[in-house]
Amino acid sequence: MTKRIVVASGKGGVGKTTVCVGVGRALTALGHRTLLVDFDDLRSLDLVAGVAERVVYDWGDVLLGRCEPQDALNETDGLFVLAGPRSYADITKEQVRDLMRRFDDFDYILMDAPAGVGTGFCLACAAAPRGIVVATADPVSVRSAAIAAEKMQTLGVGYVRLLLNRAAKKDMKKKRLMNIDDAIDGVSAQLLGIIPEDRHIRLREMGGTLLEKHQISTTPFMNVAKRVTGENVPLFFL
Ligand SMILES: Nc1ncnc2c1ncn2[C@@H]1O[C@H](COP(=O)(O)OP(=O)(O)OP(=O)(O)O)[C@@H](O)[C@H]1O
Ligand SMILES: [Mg+2]
Repeated sequence: MTKRIVVASGKGGVGKTTVCVGVGRALTALGHRTLLVDFDDLRSLDLVAGVAERVVYDWGDVLLGRCEPQDALNETDGLFVLAGPRSYADITKEQVRDLMRRFDDFDYILMDAPAGVGTGFCLACAAAPRGIVVATADPVSVRSAAIAAEKMQTLGVGYVRLLLNRAAKKDMKKKRLMNIDDAIDGVSAQLLGIIPEDRHIRLREMGGTLLEKHQISTTPFMNVAKRVTGENVPLFFL
């Protein structure tokens, strides 16, 4: 059965799209047929995944019957990406649930929510029984992640886990960032994983080649993906 997971955060720019692509690539490397779907009307997922130049249709076109579901899929190294429409006006939760069911030949669908808790966020949550809330270890991000996680649960996302992004041990030790326990307590969600600050993520963003073997974030993304599949992987960062 397809496992659908919404990736949200509250505060913008904390790494939702990066996490979708990093975890998506890792799930694909583990042999799981994986689809990423953009629910952000600012549309960055296809760019970060490196398929932007090939996008012809988005999932709005599928809803309107302008193309078949498979015509809107863009593949990169075995990972599939569905670009999002520019506007969500008049799109209903039922339509999104029906749309997602048309991709039930995938093992995993990661849904990239926009910042905040508005329309795209609510539509993605309506079709996802599980959620990842991404936060960085600072009070603003943690508070907004707590609010987003609470809202996800009220929208029916039964199982929400926290992913701490851009973690830096040195800054945590020197109290320039919150420590991990305080961030977990602040969000009130079980920790799924920690992705370190990795300058290669920014450098490689342009080409969509996010997950290279030598990057410091490669193993953490792989560990998160394994935990998503139910594997018990210890948290090395602590
Ligand atoms: N672990 C990391 N280390 C270094 N840079 C990172 C890391 N994660 C994300 N970034 C950078 O942070 C910026 C924001 O990331 P991203 O676009 O994934 O955030 P977002 O939460 O999806 O943003 P938005 O709310 O606008 O959708 C990007 O430039 C990305 O390269
Ligand atoms: Mg994003």
